[in-house]
Amino acid sequence: METSCDDTCAAVLEDDRIRANVISSQTNLHAKWGGVVPDIAKRAHAERIEGVIAEALKRARVTMEQIEVIAVTQGPGLAIALGVGIDKAKELAARYQKKMVAVNHVEGHIWSNLLKNGKGLPERQIIFPALALTVSGGHTKLVKIEAFGKYQILGETLDDAAGEALDKAAKMMGLGYPGGPIIERLAQKGDKHFLELPRPMMQGKSLDFSFSGLKTSFYYQIREWPKEKVGGHLADLAASFQEAVLETLVKKLVRAVEKTEPKTLMVSGGVAANLALRKKLRVVAENYGLPLYLPFKKELNTDNAAMIGLVGFFKAKRGEYVENAVSLDRAARLELVTGLSD
Ligand code: KG4
Ligand code: ZN
Repeated sequence: METSCDDTCAAVLEDDRIRANVISSQTNLHAKWGGVVPDIAKRAHAERIEGVIAEALKRARVTMEQIEVIAVTQGPGLAIALGVGIDKAKELAARYQKKMVAVNHVEGHIWSNLLKNGKGLPERQIIFPALALTVSGGHTKLVKIEAFGKYQILGETLDDAAGEALDKAAKMMGLGYPGGPIIERLAQKGDKHFLELPRPMMQGKSLDFSFSGLKTSFYYQIREWPKEKVGGHLADLAASFQEAVLETLVKKLVRAVEKTEPKTLMVSGGVAANLALRKKLRVVAENYGLPLYLPFKKELNTDNAAMIGLVGFFKAKRGEYVENAVSLDRAARLELVTGLSD
């Protein structure tokens, strides 16, 4: 189960294979506010979670009794939204006497490109160390992976996440929410050199990101434009902004590849659905002769419960169950446990 933001999700997995993956998106409820409203998200999760779980079980053709382990997102995310999934997981674990696994949402994104369909495809072999770039509405992280559970965080955003920056830019242009896919569509017909925008934090060796300066620069350049001028250049503005975000992501990724010399590249999170980003990533992978893994299906880039189930499966195999299910608490700011001594 996954309820950390604005998608109410439940999935059924058999090991690492997806038997059912149900996502009830709340986008239309939040769109008019230009972002996710926690109270609205919580209420919608509470109204939908039972139906979503029932649908997942139905599609997977299993009953609750046949389920072996319940995995749920513990954090990070919106506290009151996380609480809905956690409470439901506890209730089911108690009623059906099931073991529980608590999953970090970011760890879910990181591994989402290993998910397989019902037939066990695609078969993917990760050679470690792997380098993962996770880019979503809430997170932008570069992580070196030595093995499952052994992570080194190489860089992360100091302010806005990449998806969040795209969402905010879309809002400034009076476009809808979420902004990423809208900007992607508009950008296809735009001139990416139309606006000159900064590529933040490129000096030095840092692998951290910062997108708030980019957003501010964008704002100051267009704030005095009459509405008609913005309206007449939406594609150019979208293309310029998107290029600044994507180029920054890819340059840092290249820097991380050179620094850590990984054997595999993995990219995931909502922004990884972006085709222009994927094109740039393929060039990097080719240049360095590295296999590049992305989730095999578009809906596995954005929030879903299949990725939570996959990490749940990995953790269950290692016996990492929640010891006392009743006391499992939501953790809005949950960090990735690195499992390394440094
Ligand atoms: O992974 P996700 O569903 O949720 C978080 O964990 O945050 O990511 C949502 C984010 C939003 O900011 C959205 O604008 C962005 O991913 N996004 C995209 C695309 N699809 C979703 N950004 C760029 N291009 C896309 N096609
Ligand atoms: Zn997410």
